[in-house]
Amino acid sequence: MRKPLTKEEERSLLDAAQCVRENSYSPYSKFKVGAAVLTDDGRIFQGTNIENASYGLTICAERNAIFAAVCAGARRFRALALITQKLPGMAFNSPCGACRQVMSEFMPPETPILLAVLDKTKRIVYRKTLRELMPFPFDKFSEK
Ligand code: THU
Repeated sequence: MRKPLTKEEERSLLDAAQCVRENSYSPYSKFKVGAAVLTDDGRIFQGTNIENASYGLTICAERNAIFAAVCAGARRFRALALITQKLPGMAFNSPCGACRQVMSEFMPPETPILLAVLDKTKRIVYRKTLRELMPFPFDKFSEK
């Protein structure tokens, strides 16, 4: 059983995601996303979505955060937080399939995934696990 996140760790991770969201480069969708990951050794890495005039080259916030951490030598993660604006009719936004597969490469299924939405001045947080978001990831090394 891995150590559950403390309230303080959760708040720091969400603050980091909310902060980097301000740097989102999203002139095409106008949809700003912020993400942050907490590593096993207590480091936080941030990522935001970066779009391109050639739309398909866009990279999501979650993958940028995970890849920044991996570039810095991290391999083990305790949690990921994601933050978006609240869209009408949707409680929260959840990661795209590509990001879920990348999370599954580095994070065990019980990893907490915090999905936060900014609704005017309020930050509402939904708590999921990677298992809930990605029950059957592609994994060529195991027999699932
Ligand atoms: N986006 C993310 O950053 N993360 C997701 O999980 C889904 C979508 C970004 C990509 C694009 O810049 C914008 O949101 C609209 O799709």
